[in-house]
Amino acid sequence: MPGVEARGRFIVFEGGDGAGKGSALSAVAEALVADGLDVLTTREPGGTPEGLELRALLLAAAGSVWDQGSELLLMTAARVQHVKRVIRPALAAGRIVLCDRFVGSTLAYQGAGRGLPLALIRDLHRIFVDDVWPDLTVLMDVDAGTGVRRSRQRLSATKADEGRFEALDLDFHERVRGAFLEQAEAKPGATIIIDAGRALDSVRPDVVAQLRAWLSASLTTG
Ligand code: TYD
Repeated sequence: MPGVEARGRFIVFEGGDGAGKGSALSAVAEALVADGLDVLTTREPGGTPEGLELRALLLAAAGSVWDQGSELLLMTAARVQHVKRVIRPALAAGRIVLCDRFVGSTLAYQGAGRGLPLALIRDLHRIFVDDVWPDLTVLMDVDAGTGVRRSRQRLSATKADEGRFEALDLDFHERVRGAFLEQAEAKPGATIIIDAGRALDSVRPDVVAQLRAWLSASLTTG
């Protein structure tokens, strides 16, 4: 994270579809607010009004018209807006930012999933997103079959038209999972891996306990 202004902490939740990131993130947010911390929760694609419009374009079934290059550029465009308008100002104000997905998702989905070069994704990130990386990534790891099944069930229960990635085959989702695990291996000190295949009741307290431990160590050492 470049820039001395980044006084807060940037924590990103990553994982395949149906890994339960959203639920883990809200459990952590609730716990940290109860601890008296100043927390901002946000998500990608989304996080700004422009990002939400891009999210609708990208995730709906109608989004299948996008070429994979356009998909990469639109995901990145949403992130540029998000980092400049929301994430950086919050970090500069000393807030704890909890973000559902970030550039790790682009490396996993557009890189490993779609086959676009990882170096290109990193270059775009460096040039347009100021090379902002999370202080900590919480990887919610679940096998691809279980995750996609869960995610499809939730989409059909909520009737959300956001299932474009869930519609892709299991090989795609296995590549995505493998990419997240590789990212975690490359940055062991900055990643917590959570076994998200368990029942939610045991996942949530586990994530909260690990986050609290990481944060208290991180805030103590400055
Ligand atoms: P999300 O709402 O987190 O879906 P879920 O709750 O099912 O995990 O993310 C929406 C989808 O967008 C998800 O399938 C992954 C995809 N995505 C990318 O392909 N690239 C990206 O850079 C981001 C941020 C998301």
